[in-house]
Amino acid sequence: MQIGILGLGSAGIRHFRAFRKLPDISVLGADPDETRRQRAEAEGGKTVATLEGLLSRRPEAVVVAVPHAYLADAALQAMDSGAHILLEKPMATSLEDAIRVVNRARVLKRWVMVSFVHRFRPDVAAARELIVRGNIGTPVFLTDAMVSGASEMPPWVWDRARAGGGMMLYNGIHQVDRARFLLGEEVDTVRAEVRTLTHDVDTEDTVAAVLGFRSRAVGVVTQHKGSADALPGWETQVFGTKGSLRIRTGQELSWVSSGKVTTLAAAPEDRFFGAAAEFVAAIRDGRAPSPSGEDGVAALEIVLRMYADSATSRAKKPNP
Ligand SMILES: NC(=O)c1ccc[n+]([C@@H]2O[C@H](COP(=O)([O-])OP(=O)(O)OC[C@H]3O[C@@H](n4cnc5c(N)ncnc54)[C@H](O)[C@@H]3O)[C@@H](O)[C@H]2O)c1
Repeated sequence: MQIGILGLGSAGIRHFRAFRKLPDISVLGADPDETRRQRAEAEGGKTVATLEGLLSRRPEAVVVAVPHAYLADAALQAMDSGAHILLEKPMATSLEDAIRVVNRARVLKRWVMVSFVHRFRPDVAAARELIVRGNIGTPVFLTDAMVSGASEMPPWVWDRARAGGGMMLYNGIHQVDRARFLLGEEVDTVRAEVRTLTHDVDTEDTVAAVLGFRSRAVGVVTQHKGSADALPGWETQVFGTKGSLRIRTGQELSWVSSGKVTTLAAAPEDRFFGAAAEFVAAIRDGRAPSPSGEDGVAALEIVLRMYADSATSRAKKPNP
């Protein structure tokens, strides 16, 4: 099976490496940036400069890993040429475009998987399993906090025209997906404060949001990019009617049930490889890959509702 990878930046190169580890797969990368192509070629891979060049080789599937404003159009073009799609989050900068991708896939009978790679961390999969087995009872409350220090970001993330949003759309959408995945529940209500506090940029670096789930469970999601050194981390807690669990992402999973605390150190993980293996297995089996395009649409809708809620509540502020 031939897989094309469009965009060989920070995400694309990880997809490129992951697919090259799979048996019976040939990988072709594409990026207009020559230094990005040279990096992939230095690893022994093959590349072309454009999406058209990539599609002319008729890949069976294409991974789309470009800045947000270009994701949906590239996915549609690749699908129209017959490819299944592994699409980077957030799929698009508008809900309409993300839905267009899912609908076109249905019509063309192509699969769309959305790259919520953090689901492929063993600690996250184990946490979901604990919840499914009832170890913590019915989940009623979730907290999810992600903080990053003053590390470099791709510059387009701070440009609304190319990114559509800031840290919540680039990183925080993984938190939203984790909340939906762990609870196995859809979100009903979204309230949020979305601010640009630590950077002199166009898009947000800080979000505090409250999610109401259909089951009546409540989630609190916070996302912050520090302007200076900040202790980075991603911590998720789920409280249920019989116990609770905590993921210190990449470090440990702990849970307490019937008075007994258990802690597992995080195993080494390769989440991009996990996603690549699922995508290829689903295509070979003729089944829908997971996370699905619908999962992507649901998460994007929640983030866009955070932006809308924050803007509306600010507009409603009474004049002093
Ligand atoms: N799933 C994850 O964990 C994860 C992690 C990082 C980024 N991402 C996502 O991956 C996508 C890319 O982000 P990134 O951090 O890799 O950005 P990046 O800037 O590092 O890389 C983007 C690449 O796309 C190329 N590019 C730009 N415009 C293009 C176009 N029109 N056609 C083809 N190529 C083009 C650039 O030359 C660059 O090499 C975004 O959707 C982002 O949210 C996902």
